Amino acid sequence: RGKKAFIAGVADDNGYGWAIAKSLAAAGAEILVGTWVPALNIFETSLRRGKFDESRMLPDGSLMEIARIYPLDAVFDSPEDVPEDVRTNKRYAVSSNWTVQEVAESVKQDYGSIDILVHSLANGPEVSKPLLETSRRGYLAALSASSYSYVSLLKHFIPIMNPGGSAISLTYIASERIIPGYGGGMSSAKAALESDTRVLAFEAGRKHKIRVNTISAGPLRSRAAKAIGFIDTMIEYSVANAPLQKELSADEVGNTAAFLASPLASAITGAVIYVDNGLNAMGVGV
Ligand code: NAI
Repeated sequence: RGKKAFIAGVADDNGYGWAIAKSLAAAGAEILVGTWVPALNIFETSLRRGKFDESRMLPDGSLMEIARIYPLDAVFDSPEDVPEDVRTNKRYAVSSNWTVQEVAESVKQDYGSIDILVHSLANGPEVSKPLLETSRRGYLAALSASSYSYVSLLKHFIPIMNPGGSAISLTYIASERIIPGYGGGMSSAKAALESDTRVLAFEAGRKHKIRVNTISAGPLRSRAAKAIGFIDTMIEYSVANAPLQKELSADEVGNTAAFLASPLASAITGAVIYVDNGLNAMGVGV
């Protein structure tokens, strides 16, 4: 039986979510994605017009198929949480059933169950502000979109995940070391995500035999990273200072996710797995 994967946080072909989808597809999984509501139209249009065809190419020459795209906004758990201005916003009003609970219900109706859950999303409205200048609202928004969203996804998807299933998120070393420029509470959000990975691994493991891990990825020129503004500097820093002096490719993170989701990783849970050319192991830049 082929495995089914739901990947939250795919809206173009530049990010980690897309690369993870490809690695899972290459390994034979059926791919379902959750796309942020405001990005849905452009993503679907680009996909339909063949804009991603080149990057849909799998190692065997076939093109990755996305079985279904679900609109998703992971800061809302159920319809009662959605404020009036969002519900009536024109980009939101044209879609429906995009709260976490509703997406899980739709996936259940359409596919019955899944085996792999991937959280590849983050948002920090004040990311370019230092922590000392971050508002309470901005800090809590970062935690809501980037950390609680993982708790919520797991909570709602666990009931439709097959035992032996695997959940994976993406984190960044700014959770544990000082990375100036990764502000707005995003460093705090990644620290929460990593801590939650351990607690969720315990709870989901004991109750449902599901493994929960997070990949601490090196810098990638994704849409989200470009918005932060220092991504080229981070890539140059890594190439100059990491044990492996090469640019990290999204596929290397995708392949790690495919490994973590597979039976090859059947004893790995609650872990932060570094996929960063080894940069995390350095004490000083040389
Ligand atoms: P990306 O732009 O491809 O992915 C972020 C996605 O989150 C986008 O598709 C966006 O539409 C979606 N999103 C934002 N708010 C959302 C919401 N409320 N509900 C649903 N979706 C929402 O960028 P990237 O960089 O691939 O990010 C994926 C993950 O990788 C994030 O967790 C990020 O923090 C992490 N990461 C990225 C690194 C990098 O250098 N690019 C380094 C380490 C971790």
